[in-house]
Amino acid sequence: MASFNGITPHNYKFEVPEIIFGRGMLHQIGACARRIGGKKVFLVSDPGLFNAGWVEQAMGSILDAGLEFSYFDGITSNPKVHEVEDGAREYQHNNADVVVGLGGGSAMDAAKAIAILVSNGGNICDFEGLSKITRPLPPLVLCPTTCGSGSDVSQFAIISDTERQRKFCITSRCVAPDISLTDPDTLSTLPDEFIGTSAADTLSHAVESFFSVASTTLTNVHAVKAMCLLTSSMAAAVQQRNPDDLEDLARASLHAGMAFSNALLGVGHALALSIGGRYNVSHGSISSVLLPEVLRFDTLIATEKLQELAWGFGLRVKGSTNNTCEKIHYTLTSLLEECEVPRTLHSIGVRYKDLPELAQEALKDVCLATSPRVADVDDLLHILNLAY
Ligand SMILES: [Fe+2]
Repeated sequence: MASFNGITPHNYKFEVPEIIFGRGMLHQIGACARRIGGKKVFLVSDPGLFNAGWVEQAMGSILDAGLEFSYFDGITSNPKVHEVEDGAREYQHNNADVVVGLGGGSAMDAAKAIAILVSNGGNICDFEGLSKITRPLPPLVLCPTTCGSGSDVSQFAIISDTERQRKFCITSRCVAPDISLTDPDTLSTLPDEFIGTSAADTLSHAVESFFSVASTTLTNVHAVKAMCLLTSSMAAAVQQRNPDDLEDLARASLHAGMAFSNALLGVGHALALSIGGRYNVSHGSISSVLLPEVLRFDTLIATEKLQELAWGFGLRVKGSTNNTCEKIHYTLTSLLEECEVPRTLHSIGVRYKDLPELAQEALKDVCLATSPRVADVDDLLHILNLAY
């Protein structure tokens, strides 16, 4: 039986924040901040979301709850060290006492990092790795408006260090928020190009956490549920934007987030973070490209889980392991085709000559610790070549 730090499929801890989910729930954001002790909210979001009207709705909810707020939107896609430092200064300047992050993974990870800095001081790079945070964070509410990052329930924050040209991961139970609030209506304004790639990232969270050596019966339930929802609703959500399908994507993101926060990830995210550190490309686009090759890499060894994986992809298969693998792979690639997400590293601007260095950088990533197969630099380079 696989074991990771004492965790086995039947012997585990499972941690999630308080979860609020439902259409129209964004109006609860102020009440949530007040309930966990906030009086002065520090609202972190990004400029694009302001134009969509959701930030204004959040501000109204905060005022309705009798709280004050200050607003910080000085973040970009793949939040940078200096942006987090600016946010922490603003938080202190405004004497805020609760952080609310509203947006995609970038806004929520920035909100987490700001909360770390204002309570622990120092440089955000000092918190890279596992459990480096020593002081409690201010109360934290996170509201996702994409269907991909899972940051609203996860124990991770990903920050870009432009000086070192790399993304780094802060891992701690402290960075999981007090409350995760998802309003699927917010997906209705997500630009077309982000719906498919965000959903593909969610699918990669489900697949990688499912194969992780730290996966358990409980994380697998959530991973497979996410796969089922995505397989049935992802293409329709991208093509037609039906509210029910978008809600399924938001629900899938939540399930996959709970799975990977507790089971961690694998080679796909080790490579994705390496690429994302060097190229300012959306994380979802990178995940879309890598996922088929990552699935092949993992299924070569985790054969005892194939039937359950096939079920997640809506397949009832009989026959050889090879046959099952091929059917799952075909279903996945067909789904990605339908969603018109990027399919090659070349198409998202990655230079061929960089592949060896990207593989070398990925070798340092903590995600490899939970990969079901030990991956050396040649394995990682092989995956990159196949995805090129
Ligand atoms: Fe991801």
